[in-house]
Amino acid sequence: MDGDASALVERAETAFESAHVPYSEYPVGAALETASGEVFVGCNVENANYSNSLHAEEVAVGEAVKRGHTEFTRLAVASAARDGVTPCGMCRQTLAEFADESLPVFCLDGEEIVEYTLGKLLPAAISEETLSDSEAASDET
Ligand code: THU
Ligand code: ZN
Repeated sequence: MDGDASALVERAETAFESAHVPYSEYPVGAALETASGEVFVGCNVENANYSNSLHAEEVAVGEAVKRGHTEFTRLAVASAARDGVTPCGMCRQTLAEFADESLPVFCLDGEEIVEYTLGKLLPAAISEETLSDSEAASDET
């Protein structure tokens, strides 16, 4: 499995070379595999107005979705520091819009690839069902 994952992790490592990170100097790359077997990559793109910064995973999701791919099979994330970076909370929720809890998430930590699942990283994600449940609840009142 890791042999397989290493090609995806390498795509994430190549992606961080394009990162625009003058503020944090912390390049991150993400590689997202879709059900069709294509891989879409992203890097972080920072902004002088810090909160405008885009995360690598968000950019990868945007790349895939804009081309009509909404089913994701695997994600790899790597930072230049090889420090085991994981998707932040916001990115976990962004991924949960399209992927279920079983999505494998591979994170490069030194020479090691650490495997998580989206469900392990983000239990009880907010979903469309969450919203419809709350509509039902408010109808009851
Ligand atoms: N970063 C990502 O690109 N993805 C994450 O989910 C974690 C954080 C970026 C944001 C910022 O440009 C830098 O890493 C430091 O936080
Ligand atoms: Zn993030």
